[in-house]
Amino acid sequence: MCLTIPAKVKSTEGQTAVIITSQGDKQIKNSLIPDLQAGDWILYINEIALRKIPADEAGEILNLLEDSSTTINLSKLSEHFRQIIEASEQRDLTKEEIIYLLKTSGEEHRALLSQADNVRRTYIKDFICIHGIIEFSNHCLQDCHYCGLNKNNQQITRYRLTPKQIIEVASNAVENKGYKLLVLQSGQDPYYTDELLIKIIQEIKQHHRVFLILSVGERNYESYKKLYEAGASGVLFRFESANEKLFKKIHPNGKSWEARFEHLDFMHKLGYFVATGSIVGLPGQSIEDTANDILCTVKWAHMASLGPFISTPNTLLDKQTSGSAEQTIKVMAILRLMMKHARIPVSTALETVGGEEARIQALKSGANSLMFNLTPPEFRSLYQIYPDKFFETETVWQKYGLFNYEESYQMLEERMTRAIEENNLRLL
Ligand code: 5AD
Repeated sequence: MCLTIPAKVKSTEGQTAVIITSQGDKQIKNSLIPDLQAGDWILYINEIALRKIPADEAGEILNLLEDSSTTINLSKLSEHFRQIIEASEQRDLTKEEIIYLLKTSGEEHRALLSQADNVRRTYIKDFICIHGIIEFSNHCLQDCHYCGLNKNNQQITRYRLTPKQIIEVASNAVENKGYKLLVLQSGQDPYYTDELLIKIIQEIKQHHRVFLILSVGERNYESYKKLYEAGASGVLFRFESANEKLFKKIHPNGKSWEARFEHLDFMHKLGYFVATGSIVGLPGQSIEDTANDILCTVKWAHMASLGPFISTPNTLLDKQTSGSAEQTIKVMAILRLMMKHARIPVSTALETVGGEEARIQALKSGANSLMFNLTPPEFRSLYQIYPDKFFETETVWQKYGLFNYEESYQMLEERMTRAIEENNLRLL
């Protein structure tokens, strides 16, 4: 489902209306609201007015999503900064340029975030998408040193949802709440055989118009081929770190660095919509590593999936310092400068570290989607990848989301295709 940014109507004539947007005045079609008048506030998508909303509610959404700070005057900033921003409009940034942006502070830091916001507005226009995630099992045969679900953690209660439960949650999300994209996530849990996952995917896809993204860890090419044919259209599969040495240090057994990229390669070839990325602020990570992670995300992702490292009890990294919301948002902003059409969701990890404030800041710095947790409440607290996980209260977003509009699905499809095209051009 999507949340569009409201606009005020400047004038109407017959079946058209002129609205005032952050990008200037815009003419749109109006066949759905017969009594539309100048001064009204509306929600619109794909150049069509959808419905009127009260002025105070429009104000509430604008407060959440619009950057009220005064526009930054680029001419006052350093020549080098300006050159990098200009270059980002024409070509990919180099590692050195990315490092410069990662180190910005003060005005330049603010300008980076606001420039990313501009790019989001220009290319993706005025809306935010809300996706859902169902965490269906916390069993895992991996032992990633940062993750609370690692197989050596005896302190957590493990659970699995039955196929029936998973299908019920998904059906309810699509039919009653209007979700158009769902992530099905678990630890790497072989209990869910290909056959079982196929049954679940087919059952959901047969009855509901929804994009399914799988986040189930490493499986071979044949498995992912079958799952794609069954109807899964995306994968969420992070490479975690582009630095091979660092990766090996925190995954000494199990997960292999080479295998991460072999998977990403065949996932692309199979036609999956690929969500991937890294963890920001891993212990031992340098600023160069972060720049390389950005370049690697740009290369492999249609959707950038990243969040700060969170120090987690009962893991080998439990004494380390967590990554910061500020650095994660900077990374997201740089990714937006480089990936104009990509989906960049605000991760739960970012919300956990920085709360509602970080979420809003990220949405004003290039991010364009949110991921709500749809795991049944009795299991949510057991999915402890990291502690004190942020849970959405959903109120404001639920109220304004364009839940059951078919346009919302079409728009998502268009956007996903654009992101894939953009990435294909880069891989040529
Ligand atoms: N901090 C941040 N991210 C984590 N993940 C797992 N544990 C942590 C942690 N402690 C991320 C990994 C994984 C995704 C599902 O969650 O990147 O791929």
